[in-house]
Amino acid sequence: MTATIERGAATAPVASHEPPRPPTAARNRKGGFFRSSNGKKAVMAVTGAVMVLYLIAHMAGNLKIFFGATDFNEYAAFLREIGHPLVPYRTVLTLVEVVLAVSVVLHMWSAVSLARRASRARPVKYAARPKSQASGYAVQTMRYGGVIILLFVIWHLLDLTFVAVNPAGPNSEPYQRLVQGFAIGRWPVTLFYVVALLMVGLHLRHGLWSAFQTLGLAGGRRERPLKLAAAGISALLVLGFLSVPLSITIGLVK
Ligand code: HEM
Repeated sequence: MTATIERGAATAPVASHEPPRPPTAARNRKGGFFRSSNGKKAVMAVTGAVMVLYLIAHMAGNLKIFFGATDFNEYAAFLREIGHPLVPYRTVLTLVEVVLAVSVVLHMWSAVSLARRASRARPVKYAARPKSQASGYAVQTMRYGGVIILLFVIWHLLDLTFVAVNPAGPNSEPYQRLVQGFAIGRWPVTLFYVVALLMVGLHLRHGLWSAFQTLGLAGGRRERPLKLAAAGISALLVLGFLSVPLSITIGLVK
């Protein structure tokens, strides 16, 4: 992506009324590592990795639903008891929630500021459709996919954590919330999950691939296996997640 920015900056005409900007290296020295493009990409990679690890654990935990109501509810209770009595009830879960919330905010902040920097460096749009993956389809998928995922997470928390929009009501067990939340009569909710999870998969595939590139792993003969790995991990995660609402909606889990 850096190459795209520099190519744009070197060739695109800059509007005359804007004051001249200092060279990138000077700006980076002044603002520090986290204001540089590489710093922001590192923030994206680290926060992305935190979220991927959470998603893998979350997906694996959700599969407990196939072991029945008792196992699933015990697992949900266990999440709140991790570390107890060494630390107060729900401490570890609250820490996980804080780390996740900070990761989401930093991830979005670095994405928006990298996108702004790229469009400042390229004030005149390409005359032809960009050939580079980083400036075409993938950018649109990441941008709009990211917005859909954010809306999904808001709905998801209202539904299954705060139980504000779930028919099972606030005094229900987690298993009941899932079974009633994805009941056949609420198929539009399941459909929304399918769309959002496909977005999560596309986002993850591109994010993993970008992270491999940022880490300098993706050159030469490693390109194909790493692309396959990014696609494979994303597909497994999406299929694992999807199995839960789909099994409930079609009546396999009751
Ligand atoms: C079909 C897919 C999914 C199912 C069935 C599911 C299920 C659940 C359930 C039951 C909870 C409540 C846990 C509890 O309070 O004990 C929960 C919380 C949560 N889920 Fe999901 N989830 C799914 C996908 C996702 C995805 C894709 C994301 C993120 C992109 C996500 C992010 C979260 C977050 C942030 C919480 C709150 C965690 C907390 O309270 O600490 N979930 N999910």
